[in-house]
Amino acid sequence: MQTIKKRIAEKIVDAVLQINAEAQLNAQDVAAMLEYPPDANLGDLAFPCFKLSKVLRRSPVQIAASLCKALAQDEVIGSIEAVNGYLNIKISNVYLGSTVIPDILGQNERYGSQTFGCGKKVVLDYSSPNVAKPFHIGHLGTTVIGHALRKLHEFAGYECYGINYLGDWGTQFGKLIVAYRKWGSREAVEEGGIDKLVELYVRVNNAIKGDPENGIPADEALADQSRAEFHKLEMGDEENLALWKWFVEISLEEYNRTYKQLGITFDSYKGESFYTDKMPAQVQKLRDMDLLKIDDGASIVDLSEYNMPPCLILKRDGSTLYPTRDIAAAVYRKENYHFDKAVYVTSAQQCLHFAQWFKVVEMMGYPWYNELVHVPYGTVSLNGEKLATRTGNVVLLKDLFALAIEKVSGIMEEKNPNLENKAEVAEAIGVGAIVFYYLTNNRMKDINFVMEEALSFDGNTGPYVQYTYARTCSVLNRAGEVADGEILITTDEEATLVKTLCRFGERVCAAIADYEPSYITRFILDVAAAFNRFYHNCTILGADDPVVRASRIKLTEATKIVLGNAFDLICLKKTEKV
Ligand code: ARG
Repeated sequence: MQTIKKRIAEKIVDAVLQINAEAQLNAQDVAAMLEYPPDANLGDLAFPCFKLSKVLRRSPVQIAASLCKALAQDEVIGSIEAVNGYLNIKISNVYLGSTVIPDILGQNERYGSQTFGCGKKVVLDYSSPNVAKPFHIGHLGTTVIGHALRKLHEFAGYECYGINYLGDWGTQFGKLIVAYRKWGSREAVEEGGIDKLVELYVRVNNAIKGDPENGIPADEALADQSRAEFHKLEMGDEENLALWKWFVEISLEEYNRTYKQLGITFDSYKGESFYTDKMPAQVQKLRDMDLLKIDDGASIVDLSEYNMPPCLILKRDGSTLYPTRDIAAAVYRKENYHFDKAVYVTSAQQCLHFAQWFKVVEMMGYPWYNELVHVPYGTVSLNGEKLATRTGNVVLLKDLFALAIEKVSGIMEEKNPNLENKAEVAEAIGVGAIVFYYLTNNRMKDINFVMEEALSFDGNTGPYVQYTYARTCSVLNRAGEVADGEILITTDEEATLVKTLCRFGERVCAAIADYEPSYITRFILDVAAAFNRFYHNCTILGADDPVVRASRIKLTEATKIVLGNAFDLICLKKTEKV
């Protein structure tokens, strides 16, 4: 639609100049004024002429009438009407067939891509689980929104650098080391992997907290020991360092299994530990700039002027904190990756944290403070389905995926027992169902996860759109070779489908502008709905007229391309057969 809008806008500008040669107007601005009418019966696009009243010193009704005349003969225009100062435009079916479809087929996997990011670099910090703590459904958001944003930016030409900022440092490692020595063993951890680590972590945490209500006191000694072990780790104690490294490795292996299911890779796994020696310089800079205040022994940056609580930089014992590390990491990333934009995807609970340290970066005089972007998202809860929770009340991501895959396998066993690569397809659809369900909502919305809904093959779900994709593949497989030729659009279903497809580029732009992958998910649903209406109401392979048959096959191919490109943007696998 970008191309169509641009073309219509150019025509409008020409017509306006006919009326008033002095008018200051460019096609880009006019293109941005074109609207989608709320009722598609009115037209595909509408142009509100009152916006030109001032420039042309005429009434919107007069302007609409002149523009209507000037545009009527253009080949883009199917029909055009001036109504109450609006121009209502229907795009010509001939144009849709002769231009849009060849454009999609020609650009293929580049269709919908943009160039506005070319020459710019974005670093994206996402997923970033805390090692030894459970990788749970709360991390689904950062992982899939983060990766979708990465794909979207790449599609717009940006050079992207994905960072998994592992939570691989902090007192939890003191606790884990103590728990491991007390209750664990090398064999047990080797066998149990991350589950064993989480179990040890939960056990030591519970012991430290105690259960005062039931007469079990908090274990202060264990807490002290944990702190001491972390301190030793910080001081470079070899034995503790070796254990720490091993724990991180085991956790990463596990995360990578989940990332692989999602098709996600990172460019860097530099976690919090990496920035330990990069913090002192920033703390010193804060001190030199007189930005650090001592408050009850702790060092803080006062943000009262900005209506925020103070940003904590150093604890009373001099140890650093989460914001300290984020500041040091941002400086490092700017210096080493030279980003034009740094995006952080975390739950909305961290909004204040990001607002605070972004402000501190600004106060420190770093000119790139406004290149930092926090992208928050709402909470996820789980309903309707009891999942085994090894870890108290949190649901692990891998268990969620495993359950979805298992259920899909069951469904497929009934639907299509002879399918090849059943396991592979079940994984693609099970994982896809969760991703798609999650990304259907605006990111800030709190989501209540209902597995039944996510896995349904006939709702607005992942399985449904993957099934639709497979349907396009199956039509194309049966179609055989089709010669290039004129593409005829003869029905409303076809026209609607083409018009839906050609809005892809705009959806990509909007999704990037608002950091909102759900625009793509909903676009996919629009395409799937339009394709299925076409599929059910128009005969494709059995069409009598060979030109109609060939046109419909090409339209199916264009749909496959657009769906596939959109799937790629949201980590949804392209299933050729379901
Ligand atoms: N590890 C953190 C957590 O799980 C998220 C880190 C987000 N990234 C950042 N640069 N602070 O809550």
